[in-house]
Amino acid sequence: MKIVVIGGTGLIGSRVVAKLIEHGHQALAASPNTGVNTITGEGLDEALVGADVVVDVSNSPSFEDAAVLEFFTTSTTNLLAAEDAAGVKHHVALSVVGTERLPESGYLRAKVAQERLITGSSIPYSLIHATQFFEFVKGIADSATVGSEVRLSHALMQPIAAEDVATVVARTAAHEPLNGTLEIAGPEQLGIDDLVRRGLALIGDSRTVVTDPAAKYFGANPDNGELTPGPDAEIFPTRFEDWAQSSRTR
Ligand SMILES: NC(=O)c1ccc[n+]([C@@H]2O[C@H](COP(=O)([O-])OP(=O)(O)OC[C@H]3O[C@@H](n4cnc5c(N)ncnc54)[C@H](OP(=O)(O)O)[C@@H]3O)[C@@H](O)[C@H]2O)c1
Repeated sequence: MKIVVIGGTGLIGSRVVAKLIEHGHQALAASPNTGVNTITGEGLDEALVGADVVVDVSNSPSFEDAAVLEFFTTSTTNLLAAEDAAGVKHHVALSVVGTERLPESGYLRAKVAQERLITGSSIPYSLIHATQFFEFVKGIADSATVGSEVRLSHALMQPIAAEDVATVVARTAAHEPLNGTLEIAGPEQLGIDDLVRRGLALIGDSRTVVTDPAAKYFGANPDNGELTPGPDAEIFPTRFEDWAQSSRTR
C-alpha cells in the first residue's frame, strides 16, 4: 500500500515510516523538510497521488494557544480536502489520552478540534490516543521551569515509549479503519513530578523538581486521572527506566 506519513520526519513519524517500509509498504515521509506543507498546501496534492492511507503525526511548531489551534485546524482541513480529492480510503491520526477531559489546556483544545474535523469528515478514520511519550519528559520540565526550579503537581500519568506508539500507528495504518478511538499507554502510573524528577536525574539535569499541587500542566490542572487511560487501553510493557537504560546504551 502507499501510505503517506504527514510529519514523517518527526519523533513518531520517522519511526512509523521505517516500520511501514520494513513491512513492505510504500511509505512517504511528508513534511516541510521533504517539500510537503499542510498549512500552505505546498506539495500536498502531488504527495497524495495514488495514496491508500494517510497517517497524520504532525505537530505544531508553536504550543501557544491560538497558534496551536490555528495549526491543527488549518492543517487538518487542508489535509482532509486533499485526501477526499485523491480518493484516500483511511485517515489515521495520533492524539492524546484525555483530550476532551482538560479543556483548560489550549493544546488539548486544538487536538479536540483536530479530532472533530476527522470524525466529521467522510473519510474512514482511526484515532489513536496515546499517553505522554517518555521522550517528552524534558519538554514537560522545560514548560514548567521557573529559574532553576521545575514546579509540577503529583497528577498521575501513564507514559509510553515513542517506539511503542509508532508500532501501533504503523499497525493501525496497515489495517481496516476503526472509525473509532484506540487508547495506548505504558505499564506504570507515575506522578508528573516523580516522572520528571527521575527523567532529569537520568540525563544529569540539575534542575530541582518541586511538587506543587497548584502547578499547571500546559494550562490545565489534572487531579483526577484525566491523563490516564481507561480500562480498555492497550498497555505496552516498556518501563521508563528500561527505556532510559536502552537509550543510554544505543
Ligand atoms: N508529546 C507527547 O507526549 C504526545 C502524546 C500523545 C500524542 N502526541 C501527538 O503526537 C504527534 C506527533 O508528535 P511528535 O513528538 O512526533 O512531533 P515532532 O517530533 O515535533 O514532529 C513534528 C512533525 O510535524 C511536521 N510538521 C510541522 N509543520 C508541518 C506542516 N506545516 N506540514 C506538514 N508537516 C509539518 C514536522 O516536519 P519538519 O520536520 O519538516 O519540520 C515534523 O515531521 C502530535 O500530533 C502530538 O499531538 C504527543
